[in-house]
Amino acid sequence: MTERTLIIVKPDGIQRHLAGEIIGRFEKKGLKLVAAKFVQISEELAGQLYAVHRGKPFFEGLIKYLSSAPVLVTAWEAEGVINMTRKMIGATFGYDAEPGTIRGDFSCSRGYNLIHGSDSPASAEQEIKLFFSPDEIIDYELTDAHWLYGRND
Ligand code: RTP
Ligand code: MG
Repeated sequence: MTERTLIIVKPDGIQRHLAGEIIGRFEKKGLKLVAAKFVQISEELAGQLYAVHRGKPFFEGLIKYLSSAPVLVTAWEAEGVINMTRKMIGATFGYDAEPGTIRGDFSCSRGYNLIHGSDSPASAEQEIKLFFSPDEIIDYELTDAHWLYGRND
């Protein structure tokens, strides 16, 4: 079943000129970009995005970090996209993340880990709604879908 996920290039990803590198990895994987916007997130919106972490010791710092500079917010669509992108993103802390993953290749920090990705279909649905109205999510065909998603079984 086709699934969607919310991917955000966080402030450090933009400031470190890694937005193209990060988005390019998902493009090259063959995932379908369905929405994008470049914004500076308010503390309130950051709090809504990370509502599950409210009350944790890192929450205040996380909100300040995410709202400190612009971010690139995107939504992607594909069968199994949440699992695929979480694997490509890697472990939460840059210094723990495996080489080959986005965090593993470009971050050695704890909290400054370049990218956010939804972790379940339910959170993806909620998170996408925080940033995009239904008419901002574009319905279109990838012309190479046959080659990207083809099966021979
Ligand atoms: P994300 O939601 O951003 O994709 O990251 P994640 O699932 O890998 O990690 P999560 O547990 O959801 O944590 C959200 C973000 O909070 C910051 N964090 N800092 N200092 C700390 O102990 C700590 N723990 C989490 C990170 O920026 C993490 O991405
Ligand atoms: Mg998370």
